[in-house]
Amino acid sequence: MQFVVTQNYEEMSKEAARLVESVMCATPFCVLGLATGSTPLGMYEALVHDVCTGALSFANVTTFNLDEYCGVAPTSAQSYRYYMNEHLFDLVDVDMARTHVPSSSCDAAEDACVAYDAAIERAGGIDLQVLGIGNNGHIGFNEPSDSFSVGTHVVKLSESTIQANSRLFNCVDDVPRRAITMGIGNIMKARQVLVLANGAGKAGIVARAFTGRVIPQVPASVLQLHPCVTVVLDTEAASELVPVKVDD
Ligand code: F6R
Repeated sequence: MQFVVTQNYEEMSKEAARLVESVMCATPFCVLGLATGSTPLGMYEALVHDVCTGALSFANVTTFNLDEYCGVAPTSAQSYRYYMNEHLFDLVDVDMARTHVPSSSCDAAEDACVAYDAAIERAGGIDLQVLGIGNNGHIGFNEPSDSFSVGTHVVKLSESTIQANSRLFNCVDDVPRRAITMGIGNIMKARQVLVLANGAGKAGIVARAFTGRVIPQVPASVLQLHPCVTVVLDTEAASELVPVKVDD
């Protein structure tokens, strides 16, 4: 696990975009796993900037998003499909048919999960998975649990996630109680993982997830077992990481 500590949110975003671009350039028909939330917004902005200047193209890129709320229509401003269209897909030269966000439909959710995993496999697996981290250590919508999940599945959101995400809804009662998410198994199969975190609010969970015990009660801790993870932080999010002592 490699840590990159940057001065601030802008530098974290640029560093993350650089890493995404290096994988895109090195991998013909690159498959990206993408996240929503506040954390990667600056990274998407930097990627859009580079497409606009002609330095980057998404023409041959396939994307799979981590998660989506159940029962929120893709046209709703709160849906993750809407977020991705607004912040990336509508602004770059990606082929929309190659962008995938889990289905928000509650009907036949189990079939949709199986189909999502099959689509990832057909695309050749994920080259680079981008992740944020929840205050409770969730990645995707894999909430603290007694075991690590495997494939895409439907989850009941925890109270802390409902509270944290209520900022994007009119009121806490409007936050969906269920979501569909890639599993920990899907994330661990990605050839490379990029985790982003910024702000003092994430410092405790960053330290716990990446230097504490690997336990399903802290889902992100499983990333310690992945062979190729880069964690890009700002100084605040890195503030509780204890520097490793190097003996003389
Ligand atoms: C979003 C996702 C979530 C977020 C996490 C952090 O697709 O999978 O795990 O990455 O909740 O959210 P922010 O970035 O809003 O703090």
